[in-house]
Amino acid sequence: MKLIVSLLTALLLIGIIALGSGAYNMAATEKHWAITEKIIEWVRESSIEARAKDLEVPPLDDASALVTGAEHYDAMCVGCHLAPGRAQTELALGLYPQAPVFHKREPLTDATEILDHAREYFWVIKNGLKMTAMPAWGLSHDDDVIWAMTAFVLKISGMTPQRYEELIIGSNEGHAHEEGRHPHE
Ligand code: HEC
Repeated sequence: MKLIVSLLTALLLIGIIALGSGAYNMAATEKHWAITEKIIEWVRESSIEARAKDLEVPPLDDASALVTGAEHYDAMCVGCHLAPGRAQTELALGLYPQAPVFHKREPLTDATEILDHAREYFWVIKNGLKMTAMPAWGLSHDDDVIWAMTAFVLKISGMTPQRYEELIIGSNEGHAHEEGRHPHE
């Protein structure tokens, strides 16, 4: 027993010394081991599911919410998540982990699956994700707008560039997201 404790203490010390010496490479170009990636994914999925499971989903088919969602998506999300017909961005290219490209995802058809995704997307859009570059939009936007973005993200899978541009043009209410302006000004 004593030997095990001493061995574990020695291992812990070696670990701390190794980490403090700078041996661990924090570069975004240095990928995690497959096992580390699996563990992070498991922790993330469990964490989001536990926090999102009781959220009440409003109707996701409201036409004006879709336009609001499209407008916000175009202003705030395209740089990382890209959009139908739009070019790859330098920002998206450099991210690790990579941001999912929603319009290339298979559209969901199962009603329960849509609701589960809606809750999880809403939670992530509102709260962001630690150490991933995904921002918490709930600090600057109310729940109605976040549900509108959620509805839009669910609808963008398989969307044509024409439909995307139509929805953006459909949003004629000005949106204050230019550099340096506060969203509520
Ligand atoms: C600076 C880059 C960046 C911006 C801007 C950004 N995201 Fe993200 N987002 C990410 C990254 C990176 C991930 C993936 C994190 C991961 O793998 O854990 C992510 C994850 C997500 C997820 C979870 C997807 C899933 O399948 O689990 C949703 C939903 C999402 N973003 C929506 C949005 C919306 C909506 C906007 C705009 C309001 C937005 N994001 C803006 C980087 C960004």
